[in-house]
Amino acid sequence: MTRALFSLSWLAAALCLSACGSDAPAVPDAAAVQRAESLRPTNAALAAQYERACMTCHAVPGSGAPLTGFTEHWKPRMKQGMDTLVHHAIDGYQAMPARGLCADCTEQDMRALVGFMANGKDISHD
Ligand code: HEC
Repeated sequence: MTRALFSLSWLAAALCLSACGSDAPAVPDAAAVQRAESLRPTNAALAAQYERACMTCHAVPGSGAPLTGFTEHWKPRMKQGMDTLVHHAIDGYQAMPARGLCADCTEQDMRALVGFMANGKDISHD
């Protein structure tokens, strides 16, 4: 656990070295915001969970949440690997609340939702 926390803070520091300073975080333009507002998972149950939970923050620029389908926000996060992202979404991560406030989202749902939000399109979900 301590080891995991240590590597996380190391990662945060490393990301800061490359991303903080002169490179301001990418700001989505109006088209990217419009896209984030209109995107939905194709699976109806997943779309309902997404609208009820994730969308409240992840389709709202300025919320601090990486914008759905906006690659510039997701690329640095995706470097952690999908498993870490999914675990952060389930356990909570900094300003991201545990399970993204979705009480009925299973781990499989969370994985599909993260894949959808990061890529702007669905990955497989049975
Ligand atoms: C109350 C607002 C809110 C809701 C609702 C929410 N998120 Fe987030 N989410 C955030 C914020 C803010 C961040 C950025 C956290 C940070 O890096 O400080 C974030 C970050 C994330 C990340 C990136 C974590 C990482 O390791 O970089 C994932 C994945 C994620 N959210 C998934 C989801 C999913 C899936 C849902 C719906 C089930 C959801 N979120 C609902 C606010 C929210």
